[in-house]
Amino acid sequence: MKFFLDTANIAEIEEAASWGVLAGVTTNPTLYAREGGKLADFHKHLKRICDIVDGPVSGETVCLKRDEIVREGEELAALAPNLVVKVPTMPEGLAATKALADKGIKVNMTLCFTVPQAILAARSGAAYVSPFVGRFDDISEDGIDQLEQVVVALNNYDFGHQVEVIAASIRSANHVTKAALMGADIATVPFGVLEKLVKHPLTDRGLESFLADWEKVKNA
Ligand code: E4P
Repeated sequence: MKFFLDTANIAEIEEAASWGVLAGVTTNPTLYAREGGKLADFHKHLKRICDIVDGPVSGETVCLKRDEIVREGEELAALAPNLVVKVPTMPEGLAATKALADKGIKVNMTLCFTVPQAILAARSGAAYVSPFVGRFDDISEDGIDQLEQVVVALNNYDFGHQVEVIAASIRSANHVTKAALMGADIATVPFGVLEKLVKHPLTDRGLESFLADWEKVKNA
């Protein structure tokens, strides 16, 4: 499994990159707004992220009509070679994805919740499909079960191009564990979740005990 960071925060991206674990970044309008982002700086901010990250960076389109999505997608893709255009799963999004894919522009199809949506996204030419986990849990449904169905279904077919599953809307280490066990290609996680993935109470306790014993060795 590869790890993407689900953020628009530069400091978080630089920190995760320094750990050597960062394979990509996903952003969305909510995450950009959370950073106090302004429309005029949006492209500059995405470009900065693309320069830091050695891997795909998903920038989301906010248009709803195919021609507008394609125009915006082309503008985003021109920012950097690692920019992937994030397009919502909807009929206009499928049409835009096909047009962008035909132009050699990679698309991450987002807001994907079902197996049919995922297959349609892959068929339209999306290089990445992002099934959401946490938002299913939010409505008391099993997001992990839905993700597993998507992983199994996409593995059943050859789409003629590489399609990677990005487990998105990840809220916990348990989500990541389950996604890895079912073979999801990528998990995109908030920085807070990434930090939790590294930590375990037994690791902390083991470290404390090593350090205490090392003090004894030094004083012996
Ligand atoms: C990533 O591509 C998605 O936009 C993101 O994971 C959504 O997460 P959320 O459901 O926590 O907003």
